[in-house]
Amino acid sequence: MNRNPPSPEQALLEFFQSTYEAGATLAQWDREALERRKTVDRKPFRILAIAGSLRQGSYNRGLLRAAQEVAPGWVEVQFFDIGQLPFFNEDVEAAGDPEPVRRLKAAIATSNAVLIATPEYNGAVPGVLANAIDWVSRPTGRSVLRNKPVAIMGAVLGRSGSANAQAALRGVLGRIGAVVVPDPQVLVPSASKLFDENVDLRNEGTREEIRQLVEAVAHWCRRVQPEEPVSAQSVASS
Ligand SMILES: Cc1cc2nc3c(=O)[nH]c(=O)nc-3n(C[C@H](O)[C@H](O)[C@H](O)COP(=O)(O)O)c2cc1C
Repeated sequence: MNRNPPSPEQALLEFFQSTYEAGATLAQWDREALERRKTVDRKPFRILAIAGSLRQGSYNRGLLRAAQEVAPGWVEVQFFDIGQLPFFNEDVEAAGDPEPVRRLKAAIATSNAVLIATPEYNGAVPGVLANAIDWVSRPTGRSVLRNKPVAIMGAVLGRSGSANAQAALRGVLGRIGAVVVPDPQVLVPSASKLFDENVDLRNEGTREEIRQLVEAVAHWCRRVQPEEPVSAQSVASS
């Protein structure tokens, strides 16, 4: 259809109109981006803390409490007690994950990252922790730990600082597909000398190492997990 060329006034009016519409769209995008930013800022960064020791006076639980204390305000450290989990058994699993297992899987899925503090038992990963990892490694290839940043630290009475247990744990987690935070390595030897009678970590150097590890976890999350973790509801329905 032939259209007569617009008059100069009409052309000017159309130009102003299109500029105004483009400006309004940009302003709308800005408002939406700002709202998204506010939502992200409001949400705490969640770290799920798991100790590889069940005892009340555990130094490794003490390390996790220290992590909670030194973490910046926007980091929320929540604990999960793996002592509630039954022994892994494929027959039990086939009948459906027991309730504590479902809760652990949901807690991992809805956290940005996992922080494990483990002792070393006979140069290896304690059975309770290996058991918990066996549960959450399933279904094979679709574990909630897949692509999840996981940081490791550990305290022992001996001189290894839990190095052997940590090395074994890194291997297992890597195999499951977790993103194991490479450093800093927090190895805590001679633990009984570093905690007070309330099992509070008193050693400033170790507290600083833990602070750096928490920071490193946040860094790795930003790299591998630009989106928020999945909601608990979507885990329950999957
Ligand atoms: C079964 C068992 C095996 C252990 N093996 C080691 C070991 O290989 N190296 C070590 O330094 N400490 C070993 N310990 C001592 C632990 O370091 C010590 O019990 C430590 O406090 C456990 O951590 P927790 O305080 O978090 O419970 C072992 C303890 C137990 C119960």
